[in-house]
Amino acid sequence: MALLLRKTLFFNQIRALHKKAVKLSTPITFKSGENFKKFDAVRPEVMKSLMSSPKFTEQLPEVGTKIKGLLDYTMHGGKRGRGLSVPFGYQMMEDPKYFIEEKMHTARFLGWCLEILQAKLLSIDDILDASTTRRGLTCWYLRPEVGTSATNDCMLIYLCLIEVLQMNFEKEPYYKDLIKIINDTAMYTGMGQYLDYTSGYSKEKNNFEEFNMDRFNAIAIQKTAYYSFRMPLLVSLLLVKNGKERDLIEHIDICFEFGKLLQFQNDYKDVYWDTATSGKEGTDIQEGKLSWIALTALERCNEAQRSIFKEFYGSKNPEHVKQIKQLYDELQMDKVYDEFERSFYENMKRRIYAMPTEGEIQYFLEILEACRLRDY
Ligand code: IPE
Ligand code: MN
Ligand code: MN
Repeated sequence: MALLLRKTLFFNQIRALHKKAVKLSTPITFKSGENFKKFDAVRPEVMKSLMSSPKFTEQLPEVGTKIKGLLDYTMHGGKRGRGLSVPFGYQMMEDPKYFIEEKMHTARFLGWCLEILQAKLLSIDDILDASTTRRGLTCWYLRPEVGTSATNDCMLIYLCLIEVLQMNFEKEPYYKDLIKIINDTAMYTGMGQYLDYTSGYSKEKNNFEEFNMDRFNAIAIQKTAYYSFRMPLLVSLLLVKNGKERDLIEHIDICFEFGKLLQFQNDYKDVYWDTATSGKEGTDIQEGKLSWIALTALERCNEAQRSIFKEFYGSKNPEHVKQIKQLYDELQMDKVYDEFERSFYENMKRRIYAMPTEGEIQYFLEILEACRLRDY
């Protein structure tokens, strides 16, 4: 016992000593081929568990077939950053003396559950944004056999998540917390989405006053940060001994900043990336989105350029879209973005290095790096 204690102390001392030694160019270990493989291996288990629910087996077989097809399609592709963050979070946040491999498996299972939530959120988002492609496929709602029934399908995806959680975790002491985290996340995302689709500008609506950074931040935090960063972190901490008791104010604030970063990038990609690279067609200008690019361009506009913006932003007419893109080019928004992202990133890094343990530093640093490389 004494030896064990000494060993642990020694390990923790090493951890503390190495705190400052984490390199700036952290390799993204949590998305390594091996971690990906281990994560992928758990997906069939999650699906098998779900499909074994009496809700499917004790009813018309076509329902189960339909559900499986729905999940396979909407969960296709994706970078899996959110799902992989759960095992990574457990690994980085747990004290080595309590770490057990079995919980890594549970974390991977839960990671896939979060990917189910992501599938539901994205499928709804595509309807809201009138998008055409997602992860290289036609959006679910645009498939000829789907159409408006996508609304029910999206609800079903969410309820499949709840079903598989109930089947596998109902007896766990953290079940109530788990459901609360997921429900709260879904609700914040929904409210963020509401703000997102009601904050668009158009000449007809003449709602220019709502076009500001405070609103952008509120939207980015709710629609992106909650489900992308806060939820995986909180879910991984459910597996960590006394994870619930931790002071998470700074952690969650960093999660919120990551949400903004992802939204800045998303807005940038919507304009500057071609469809082949991003796997989806940009629609932000047409939808009049309250995007980082639009806001920042407006800050830099002269009066004539501002008039062009007010006249053409939020129009589906391709000529108008072209005018806006030309305006962005004139203002060199790609350069402005690069500079902005770099300084945001440096600032995040400084905050992360101030975190108390090496595990926390590595967790946030790798996620930041994955975000920077658009690989989260
Ligand atoms: C992504 O929002 C989906 C959610 C926030 C749930 P966006 O509409 O900004 O992102 P993309 O461009 O469709 O992926
Ligand atoms: Mn969208
Ligand atoms: Mn959207």
